[in-house]
Amino acid sequence: MKPNPKDFPTIPPIELEMYQGLIDEIKALKKEKDAIVLGHNYMHPLVYWIADFKGDSLNLSRKAATTDRQTVVFCGVPFMAETAAILSPTKNVLIPSLKGGCSLADSITPQDIIKLRLQYPGIPVIAYVNTTAATKAEVDVCCTSGNAKNVVRWALQQFKTNKLIFLPDRYLATNIARDLDADIFFPTKENQEIPPTDKAIQIIGWDGSCEVHKQFTVKDIESIRTEYPTVKILAHPECSEDVVAASDFSGSTNAMIAEAKKTLDRPVYLATECSMADNILTNAPGCKLIRMCSYRCPHMAMITLENLRDSLKFNQYQVKLDPEISSRARLSLERMISI
Ligand code: 13P
Ligand code: SF4
Repeated sequence: MKPNPKDFPTIPPIELEMYQGLIDEIKALKKEKDAIVLGHNYMHPLVYWIADFKGDSLNLSRKAATTDRQTVVFCGVPFMAETAAILSPTKNVLIPSLKGGCSLADSITPQDIIKLRLQYPGIPVIAYVNTTAATKAEVDVCCTSGNAKNVVRWALQQFKTNKLIFLPDRYLATNIARDLDADIFFPTKENQEIPPTDKAIQIIGWDGSCEVHKQFTVKDIESIRTEYPTVKILAHPECSEDVVAASDFSGSTNAMIAEAKKTLDRPVYLATECSMADNILTNAPGCKLIRMCSYRCPHMAMITLENLRDSLKFNQYQVKLDPEISSRARLSLERMISI
């Protein structure tokens, strides 16, 4: 299998030639080890291309659970590989590098959630899937950016309340609150008392954020509109509420890709991690994407063809979870999936 330079407008042909040996090795190792490779939408274009399944974190983990292959290599960040391991407890789940983290997943600990529950008894807790297994184990239900509003409605009904705790992303929480016409309150050290509200829904947020998406500003959006007046701007809901409001569409990475693919008659700008534009160009060459690669996730960038090869070769790095944490975290994920 040889990458066609036409499909990789962002990689010089000479570089593609240089990678050919590695690509052949990875292909052979996948076969020899009977392994499946999953690639998040933010992967380097060649890692993405070689992956058997591509997509957002939850869809990839669900794919891993349905495959009959025993070894699953997750090309993404550690919380994603953990999610795959939670949903496939008997499989050998590997991540090619342990160096990545995630500013969102790392913004909250299980102890923080225990404290929140003591502070706000009886209020259900929803966690975005961009969290560690230990966080998922402490909450009532998980959600993705795509299903968050449905999960919020479900939790309010299930727990017979008008209040809920939504963590850890303050921007996703604020964007959801706006869509649901809900009140949102962020407790601080000085003020933890929930204020009165006349809204039907009240969300208690957490001050976590994605270090990539929080960098987009309304000024970025305005200057792109000035330069390209017919542009369609797609923003990930981890961007600030002002950026999302100034954009034309907001959704998960899978939803953004679908929207870009059907917008062939005008330029498209993606307010998200910049490798995704490269990957859309490989898979949907008709898209007129404005590529201004400004914000790359340093954690996603830890995955390379080299460490993917080594992961398959040396069976590294195995994702090992405490079985008790894993089964409690699975419950939060399964609740979401059943909604
Ligand atoms: P999704 O692919 O689930 O939309 O998540 C985006 C993201 O930031 C993953 O790290
Ligand atoms: Fe975390 Fe943001 Fe990187 Fe995704 S893009 S892994 S949310 S820091």
